[in-house]
Amino acid sequence: MDIESIKNKIKLVVNEKRYIHTLGVADVAYDLALIHGYNVEKAYLAGILHDCAKNVSNEELVDICIKNNIAISGIEIKNIQLLHGKVGAHFAKTIYGVDDKDILNSIIYHTTGRPDMSMLEKILIVADYIEPNRKPLPRINVIREAAFESLDKALLLIIENVLTYLNETNALIDTITILTYNFYKEKEK
Ligand SMILES: [Fe+2]
Ligand SMILES: [Fe+2]
Repeated sequence: MDIESIKNKIKLVVNEKRYIHTLGVADVAYDLALIHGYNVEKAYLAGILHDCAKNVSNEELVDICIKNNIAISGIEIKNIQLLHGKVGAHFAKTIYGVDDKDILNSIIYHTTGRPDMSMLEKILIVADYIEPNRKPLPRINVIREAAFESLDKALLLIIENVLTYLNETNALIDTITILTYNFYKEKEK
């Protein structure tokens, strides 16, 4: 499927706010790819597809995982929306015809991160966080500045923010996010 057809289809399956966010993420992912030396088309496509399962109901997310042998972790049972990464990658492959492993992984891990990510995985997480249509977040300008200089640095600031937010709201924290934080904290030294 070509990129325009994919965009048209995404527009139909997510709500308007989500679609605006999607376009913002794709544009920022393109820019970050350009700056840091990654394939810009692939980065843009990952941005367009990253939230393609975001407007899927909890029941349906679970149902799709069960029918397609997608493992559901303990934390995902308690926070089902986390599954929009895994199910999104499944849709990217089966509905939108994307085979590229790096794109699929970037969609899977955009919700939690993971240690030692590929450049695209990092680009997508950073773009998701700094795209201009999001409501203002703490230290956003510092993070935006860092993103153009070092993806690892931006990533660390983002995970710090996310962990602080999850702590303050007493939300569940996925172990993989803690492992990701420790990995990039260690790398920064
Ligand atoms: Fe997402
Ligand atoms: Fe997103």
